[in-house]
Parts: sequence; C-alpha cells; structure tokens
Amino acid sequence: MADTDDDTSGARFRPEVPAPSHTFPLKGCGGLDWGMQSRLARIFRPATSRTVMLAIDHGYFQGPTTGLERVDLSIVPLLPFADALMTTRGMVRSTVPPASRAPIVLRASGGPSILKELSDEHVAVSMEDAARINACAVAVQVFIGGEFEAQSVHNMTRLVDAGQRYGIPVLAVTAVGKELTRDARYLRLATRICAELGAHFVKTYYCAEDFDTVAAGCPVPLVMAGGKKLPELDALTMAYRAVQEGAAGVDMGRNIFQSDHPEAMIRAVAAVVHESVKPHAAYEKFMVPKAQAQD
Ligand code: R5P
Repeated sequence: MADTDDDTSGARFRPEVPAPSHTFPLKGCGGLDWGMQSRLARIFRPATSRTVMLAIDHGYFQGPTTGLERVDLSIVPLLPFADALMTTRGMVRSTVPPASRAPIVLRASGGPSILKELSDEHVAVSMEDAARINACAVAVQVFIGGEFEAQSVHNMTRLVDAGQRYGIPVLAVTAVGKELTRDARYLRLATRICAELGAHFVKTYYCAEDFDTVAAGCPVPLVMAGGKKLPELDALTMAYRAVQEGAAGVDMGRNIFQSDHPEAMIRAVAAVVHESVKPHAAYEKFMVPKAQAQD
C-alpha cells in the first residue's frame, strides 16, 4: 500500500547539510559516465586508485600455456587475491565461478595463433556479449608499428564506440612486435595513440629508462604488463618501480601463475602495488616463508 499519510518532517531534509559533489580519482576518467566509473572502480581499488590484475588470457593465441593447463586448479584459488581477472569469454563461461567477486576484463580481440602473423587480429567479442558476461572492461591488442597496425587501431576504436554505448571501458594492450624496441620513445608513442583514440586505460611494458615519461604522457591510467617469467624479486622490483614512476598498477600473468608459489607471489605484488612495500620486504614477507616451508 502506498504511503499516502507519510508525514516526513522538514528537519529530516537537513537543509543545512550540503549534498556532496563526488569526484572520480582515476586519472583522466573524471568525465566518464557513471557506469564506466563504477566498472573502473571495481577494477582499481578506490582506496589506492591502483589495481593488481591477473592476466590469464594467453590461450586465445597460444593455447594451453605453462601454468594455465587447468585454470580451475591453478587460477580459481587465486581469485580472492586479484583485483580483476583478464581472461576470455570461453574461460569465463566454462571455468570461472559466477559467484567469484573478481571483476572480469574480457579479451575482445583475436584471430591469429602463434603460427601466424599476430597483428592480424579482429574484434572477437560483441559488446552485447561482454555486457551479458557482466564484464567490467574489454581488452584489445593494439600493434603500433606492426604489419596490421591500422586494423588493430580500428578494432580498438570500434570497441571504444561500442563501450561508450554500453558503459563498458576499453583496455588497450600495446603489443610490441619482435622487431620493435620496448624503449620509452616507442612506448610513449603507442600508449598515447591508444589514449588519444579513446582507450579508457592502457596496458604497456615497463622500460628501465624514462618509464615515468611514458606514464606522464598517457592521459589515462596505465597498467604495467608482466611479460616473461622473471625471478620473483626481479618481477617485484619491476612492479615497484612501475607504480612509483606513475603506473596505476599491474596486469601480470606468467610472473604470478608460473611462480612456484602463485598465491604468495600475487600477495607480494599486491603489497608492492597497494601499500608501496619495497620489493625486498615483500619478497621476504611472502616468498621466503613459502620456500622455507617446502625445504
Ligand atoms: C598478450 O599480450 C596478452 O595480453 C597476454 O596474453 C597476457 O595478458 C600477458 O600477460 P603476461 O605477459 O604477464 O604473462
């Protein structure tokens, strides 16, 4: 029954208390629609505006990668420690428990396998399906300098247009071909092109020199890509430097799931990213006890 006799008093409106005007803290994202900001706030922890994304999308072009043979066994137990899971719709529907709280960043480009020219990708997921999956973002590979550079940029801009309609952010992943150098000059070029053409956040590699200029030149949040497996301390050092030099977090795969102690490693990465714990301290706290327990 309707509250026709509701008699709310004037005092309850608290006219003396001004309504808050919310600002959105993520770099370059203040003007986005509420749905976009809400999804980004699920990926980037509001307390730190940083993220530890766990990347397990490798199978979309290279099949069952070491550490991902059984995602149900190796990755699902890590989900409580990840701020977001970057994966494919096939893996989501087959293996990721719907009750998992980890936001999904959905791989939305693909086509060629490792046996072919990798830059020849196309859009591989509709935004409608991404919405059906409840994705918090979609990810697309952009091959600046690659053979199919313009096609991959066009994949991204099509996804950005669709994402704007649905309120789903787009993560541009800058893919560096074998023949290109991952130096600051190249990374500034690639990340800036992605942001200028509408990517809501960008994933790129770390470079030892001038990474701060890459982060500063990218007007939207930049997350550091992990790359090939390194010794844990080196990977933690790289993550530490990246966030100290302006990255809004990391999106790491092999350096987590190919570790002998993936849970300890993702917790160590989170300490480095969210608490600015120094790499040695994070290593000592999380990795050493695990290794000793094994002896
Ligand atoms: C390719 O570039 C993809 O984004 C990867 O499949 C994945 O995200 C790479 O993760 P990582 O290099 O940290 O293993």
